[in-house]
Amino acid sequence: MTSTNPAEPQRQLVVVSNRLPVDRVTDPDGTVRWQTSPGGLVTAMEPVVRDLGCLWVGWPGNVDEQIEPFEHETLRLHPITLSTEEHEGYYEGLSNSTFWPLYHDLIATPDYHRPWWDHYLTVNQRFADVVAEQAPEGAIVWVHDYQLQLVPGMLREVRPDLTIAFFLHIPFPARRLFGQLPWRRQIIEGLLGADVIGFQRVQDALSFRWAAEHYADAHANGNLIVVPETADEPARAVLAQEFPISIDTESLESLAADPAVRARAKEIREELGNPRKLLLGVDRLDYTKGIRHRLKAFAELLGEGDVKAGEAVMVQVASPSRERVEAYKRLKSEVEGTVGQINGQHGTIGWSPVVYLHRGFPRSEMVALYLAADVVVVTALRDGMNLVAKEYVACRDDEHGVLVLSEFAGAADEMTDALLVNPHDIDGLKSSFLRAMHMPAAEQQRRMSALRHQVKEYDVAHWANSFLRAVNHAADERERLGRGSDEDGGSRIPAPVFIPTSLDSALRRFASEPNIIVACDFDGTLAPIARRPKDARILPRAEEALSALQGADGVHIALISGRSLDSLRATGVRTDGRVLSGSHGVELTGVPASSNPGNDPLSDEESSMLRRLLRRLRRVFGDEPGVRIEEKAFGVAVHTREVRNDQRSDELLAAAVELGSDEGFDARNGKRVREFTVRHSDKGRALQAIREQLAAPILFFGDDVTDEDAFEALGPDDIGVRVGDGETAAAERVPSPEAVAAALARLAELRTGVVIGAS
Ligand code: ADP
Ligand code: G6P
Repeated sequence: MTSTNPAEPQRQLVVVSNRLPVDRVTDPDGTVRWQTSPGGLVTAMEPVVRDLGCLWVGWPGNVDEQIEPFEHETLRLHPITLSTEEHEGYYEGLSNSTFWPLYHDLIATPDYHRPWWDHYLTVNQRFADVVAEQAPEGAIVWVHDYQLQLVPGMLREVRPDLTIAFFLHIPFPARRLFGQLPWRRQIIEGLLGADVIGFQRVQDALSFRWAAEHYADAHANGNLIVVPETADEPARAVLAQEFPISIDTESLESLAADPAVRARAKEIREELGNPRKLLLGVDRLDYTKGIRHRLKAFAELLGEGDVKAGEAVMVQVASPSRERVEAYKRLKSEVEGTVGQINGQHGTIGWSPVVYLHRGFPRSEMVALYLAADVVVVTALRDGMNLVAKEYVACRDDEHGVLVLSEFAGAADEMTDALLVNPHDIDGLKSSFLRAMHMPAAEQQRRMSALRHQVKEYDVAHWANSFLRAVNHAADERERLGRGSDEDGGSRIPAPVFIPTSLDSALRRFASEPNIIVACDFDGTLAPIARRPKDARILPRAEEALSALQGADGVHIALISGRSLDSLRATGVRTDGRVLSGSHGVELTGVPASSNPGNDPLSDEESSMLRRLLRRLRRVFGDEPGVRIEEKAFGVAVHTREVRNDQRSDELLAAAVELGSDEGFDARNGKRVREFTVRHSDKGRALQAIREQLAAPILFFGDDVTDEDAFEALGPDDIGVRVGDGETAAAERVPSPEAVAAALARLAELRTGVVIGAS
């Protein structure tokens, strides 16, 4: 794999995680060797840092061991010592008996013990001290996972020169669950010491932003969290966003193509008695993985005769994990008991329905297992990502095999062509197992091919590059601000430039079309919402990007507003050479659209209807503080953005709707506005009219309910991007007008090669 992007400035990197990438193991004969550490964190990070040759600070896997820093392949490893008590309090206690169950939706009950917290503080401080001492000036420090959530804050205090990144490999809990944590404020403040915080899924990032606003004195603006100034530091921004992790697809593919590994796959099937179907589960022996649920489903299928003797084998690879923690001990005995029961009840002399392997295997053996398996079952009750799902498809270049995947694994967001299951629904799980075992080859191929496409494009290099691009951007911003941006009138808060990965790929595809239409709503999309509509202004970066695009061949720019065109022009937005649609599609200029409802002047009847409505609205609402009545080309709008009380605003809008209906008008709802018009059109019709004339795919950004008509009018080659929250028909979403500007800048860069700066 290619590691970091060569275009990025070369800053030194320090990686910090609870475990080093290798554990120190002493064999029975006393030989000491280093073996790959368990878990997805190391699987993902190892290929990322292999080429970079950085410093990695972590624990070598045994207690009370003092080990000097040493070189391991291209890495310099700096071991951290943990005492027996610290291991119990920090690792087995707070990390794995509090955070782990709490962050995995309480599948086990979290324990809250104050002495564990003291150990967590001490050990996090030790990690921070070592990094503070070892990290080169101006380096990027990349801290990983729930065991070290306080390290970013501790590090920032003593090494303000560092750019600090944090990635959470496991889920971030939903609001109310996180609220249970007695140390919730300290955790949020610790994490907010970072410049960039990465999560696996969008919902994790959203839950974190909520928690940052509620438990720390921070304010979220889209994917940026603004931390207010303190005595020592000015206000600063932290990027909190999803960056779904992945695998080293290329190296798995080449292992899977190795003739020795293929031969081993064949041998595995033979050793198992060549069953018609081989089902495989690969997990750390962890209660989050849903191993009991999958065994229960399989046992019922055997008991009910849906899977016949000798027909199928389920191989369960369960690597030993956290074996001294109570919940893990219980799970181990339950799983082993269940396997024994199933085999005892259903097995025959020559056939065991479940083969249980409780140990670690070399990578080549894992790949051989994936190649041998007809079905891989991932039934996690909750999982940050689940790399096993991705590894399986990466190995299957024959495009055969079925992935059964839990909806509760992060991977389900991306791997929608898997057979998605709810592992709590045992009957549903049984049906999916049967469906997977009997899936026709053509369907297997269709699904596997789509899944493989996904893991090839979004591999771990893509993940690391996007994350490090965000971190390098944060580092650049820190340098820029450090140079005193106040003088150049810049903000002290870095600009958000990061857009979701799926939108980035959609933009790449879109940018390569010969002709394109870039259409944007104005208020709340290109321009942040202003209290008084006349004060709204397009963001400079958005205008710069649109102008750059407008100068490129084959690009049409369209502004699609609910405003009348006069009011749109009055904002000062550039309109020359652009298609303009105003008054929700009624007005249209810049394309010859003869069917446009705004082409003919008002009839006498229309004029008198409008005059009557306007007079009554003015009479009723004229003196109401904060209400503004706007006369438009073909209608009237009642705005309440300046009404201070939300409830009062709702009441006023409802009254306006009633009054409009008395006069025979239907109201159109917008954010704190209701509109009444004598000519009927909408933004969807406007977009259709534009497409008929220009015949090109459309990229449309919009933030309001009235933009939904436009999203609904889009076709498969178009891209709809909703700005902000709310139900939508758009396939993509960005959080703010600043993010729209960033996406337009990205498109301009892709189309023209011109880089539009962040500020
Ligand atoms: P987690 O990080 O919770 O352990 P993931 O599925 O994301 O779960 O990652 C698990 C990683 O560990 C995968 O790379 C998988 O191949 C590997 N793995 C799991 N069990 C074993 C085993 N018994 N031997 C070797 N590797 C294993
Ligand atoms: C998951 C966690 C990692 C952890 C790994 C193995 O992947 O996200 O942080 O290292 O499991 O768990 P262990 O407790 O053995 O380190």
